[in-house]
Amino acid sequence: MRKTRIILCGACGKMGGNVLSLLQDDAEAVAVCGVDLYPREIGIPVYTSFADIREEGDVIVDFSSPVGLSERLEYAKAHKLGIVLASTGFSADDLNLIDEYASSVAIFKTANLSLGVNLMQALCKAAAQVLGDNFDVEIIERHHNLKKDAPSGTALMLANSINEVFEGQKKFVNGREGIVGARTKNEIGIHAVRGGTIVGEHEVMFAGEDEIITISHSARSKRVFAAGAIRAAKFLKAKEAGMYEMKHLLAEENTQENM
Ligand SMILES: NC(=O)c1ccc[n+]([C@@H]2O[C@H](COP(=O)([O-])OP(=O)(O)OC[C@H]3O[C@@H](n4cnc5c(N)ncnc54)[C@H](O)[C@@H]3O)[C@@H](O)[C@H]2O)c1
Repeated sequence: MRKTRIILCGACGKMGGNVLSLLQDDAEAVAVCGVDLYPREIGIPVYTSFADIREEGDVIVDFSSPVGLSERLEYAKAHKLGIVLASTGFSADDLNLIDEYASSVAIFKTANLSLGVNLMQALCKAAAQVLGDNFDVEIIERHHNLKKDAPSGTALMLANSINEVFEGQKKFVNGREGIVGARTKNEIGIHAVRGGTIVGEHEVMFAGEDEIITISHSARSKRVFAAGAIRAAKFLKAKEAGMYEMKHLLAEENTQENM
């Protein structure tokens, strides 16, 4: 079978480097070119704009930033490519645009491409279902000192999953400062810690009367996300237009394993 041809947006960044390094030993996928605001020599052609791309691809993998999102989506639509949106920090307008394009483009979007965090998401939902309103939910995320967005996309993803159990009744409180008064029941507190080279840590605390349950995940290297992005690209190749996420990929991989 022909390899999945990846156009790597953000190719010259940290995640781009991790994806390229993993692809060196991948028999099923290859990076045909990259797009980056600051191109440098990385072994594949790198363009500053999608309009300059000469290579043919199957899937765009985006590890850059929300800036330039519409150009990426339009290129995917015009060339009938899938797109893995792994960047984080999208605004409400960006999310609406992504939804609009999902009617004509196969879009895989997740704030966290690791298997562990996706399991954590399911565990947090199950915990919220059992514990209900009797336990206060607080999320603490820790990342390196270069991270641009806060709170992390993963923290928001976890908060949204938990809030689904409460039918959207909880409001997110980012950090606390000053005389904030007693904590109300309808809050999910989210706290962003930044320092050093921390790859990514997420802790969800369910604090009840005299007992605390903590569900946590720690990424020890960025490779785990790069591997997830490559899996997502292979999954997305030749998929119909629509929105896809990790649960669809895991369901398909499990079906294939059981065949
Ligand atoms: N979904 C996940 O699992 C996951 C995991 C890790 C990182 N991320 C996200 O991926 C993104 C990149 O992370 P990183 O650590 O590699 O950052 P980085 O700053 O090291 O790299 C980003 C690269 O993208 C380029 N870039 C920025 N804006 C661009 C644009 N508009 N067009 C083209 N290129 C552009 C930069 O020049 C840089 O080379 C961030 O949004 C981060 O939060 C997501």
